[in-house]
Amino acid sequence: MPASKIDSLGEWRRTHYSKDITPSNDGKEVTVFGWISSIRDQGGLVFIIINDNFGIMQMTLHKNKVSKELLSKVESLSEHASIGVRGKVKTMSKAPNGAEIVPSEIKVLALPQKVPPFGLHAETLPSMDKRFEIRAVDLRRPKALAIFAIRGKSLEIIREFLKERGYHEVNTPKIIATATEGGAALFPLLYYDKEAFLTQSPQLFKEQLVMAFEKVFEIAPAYRAEQSRTLQHLSEFLSIDVEEAFVDYKDVMNTIEALISRLYTGVSKECSKELKLLGISKLPAIDKIPRLTYDSIIELLKGKDVQIEWGDDLSSESLDMIADELPSYYFITDWPTKSKPFYIKPASNPELSESFDLMYGSLEIASGGTRIGSKKELMKRLKEKGLKPKGFEYHLAVFDYGMPPHAGFGLGFERLLMVLTGQKNIREVSVFPRDQFRLTP
Ligand code: 4AD
Ligand code: MG
Repeated sequence: MPASKIDSLGEWRRTHYSKDITPSNDGKEVTVFGWISSIRDQGGLVFIIINDNFGIMQMTLHKNKVSKELLSKVESLSEHASIGVRGKVKTMSKAPNGAEIVPSEIKVLALPQKVPPFGLHAETLPSMDKRFEIRAVDLRRPKALAIFAIRGKSLEIIREFLKERGYHEVNTPKIIATATEGGAALFPLLYYDKEAFLTQSPQLFKEQLVMAFEKVFEIAPAYRAEQSRTLQHLSEFLSIDVEEAFVDYKDVMNTIEALISRLYTGVSKECSKELKLLGISKLPAIDKIPRLTYDSIIELLKGKDVQIEWGDDLSSESLDMIADELPSYYFITDWPTKSKPFYIKPASNPELSESFDLMYGSLEIASGGTRIGSKKELMKRLKEKGLKPKGFEYHLAVFDYGMPPHAGFGLGFERLLMVLTGQKNIREVSVFPRDQFRLTP
């Protein structure tokens, strides 16, 4: 690598993005910025691919037509360098977006001092741990960029869907006083001189908020001190929580069905390039999601080589067997009351509950149900679960003021993204994943 001077940004400001380098701007003078993702030297021509916020663009240099100074600058460049380019747009059918930039001036703004232990376009990669030590650099791989483009678009679609349907977006505290989903998986912390916890779910807050807003949603991190290292658990994940008054769990499943359907249509339409890059030629259309009761799942498992009693949770072994027959989305409904949290409403047969899990093969994507609306019943259920109503006094207090019947769900956004982008490891869909063994970067 020849030594090269680093230029200052000075007065240069961006006039166009990669998406604007198109035939319709042919002949236009532009100033662009970005980082280099590939350099190809083909005799008299050098092709440089520059990435920016909106994708990629090509800069083409005719070695015998440019100044010595420009040429020596280009020779100092390598993948990951940050540059600014001034030049003219020229139509070129083979270039990205059908046009390229013929540079007149280049500013070298940062040159890499190290070569990453993986190539941007490499098919085989070093271990995830190695990549994640420099995750921001890892995220420059086109496949990673594609995943996060889909992540961004998905969030946009989900928000839009919920807002259109009249849900209010809320933000509830992440530092809380009591567990909602069971105590074992809590992260304790010191809140001034008191013990407090990071939230596992906005469950109790969102239930309370239906009193005022009727329909609410929150998209926010949730924290679980997961003791096992798996491909589908993070210690911090993005939870999509929805809660609504005057509906029950069946209405909620309808909402989820419509949401997933909209998401698939939207991502298919708006992220086709990214999907293709990830090896997904076409997303299926999701219309109806089958609903199977817990009882029928137990029936299905009875003929198989697995030990299961009615009332048991479904082991990963059982789930794998179910996934052989149900590889896509399906709901498991009407779970045994004892296997669900205290706030889930028992059905007319109190052994069963008005609850569901949304599954994709063996992967749980969401859980939801009708909630208990009566304070008396809620206190009874808390005690049955071995929890102390005293710890939930602040929550129970509002139930004295006319809590409407309500239902809702919580959906693990990274899990949904794993399915959408075909990733086997949940860490690939999180920019800086947190697990039992990873607290940095
Ligand atoms: O099934 P969970 O624990 O349900 C609740 O939190 C309820 N408050 C939801 C409700 O409204 N009734 O968590 C909801 C979803 C799971 O289905 C899963 O997709 C995801 O959150 N999830 C995780 N995702 C990644 N890493 C983890 N450690 C997760 N734990 C749960
Ligand atoms: Mg669950």
